[in-house]
Amino acid sequence: MYVCLCFAVTDIELRDHIGEGARTVDQIGDACGAGTGCGTCLDRLDVLLAAELAPSAISDLPLSA
Ligand code: FES
Repeated sequence: MYVCLCFAVTDIELRDHIGEGARTVDQIGDACGAGTGCGTCLDRLDVLLAAELAPSAISDLPLSA
């Protein structure tokens, strides 16, 4: 599925960039241009970024209090 039409970036490519260390919409834009054109996809990029990062953030929490 395309997440950014201006730069023909797919959700798979987006996940790859997140896997390579992109943690913000700006970093995604630096990696592939997504979000740096018309800006229509910025909200979608933000949601997908948060969804991708949420599980790893939870798994980083300590197991005991
Ligand atoms: S659709 Fe992503 S910058 Fe235009």
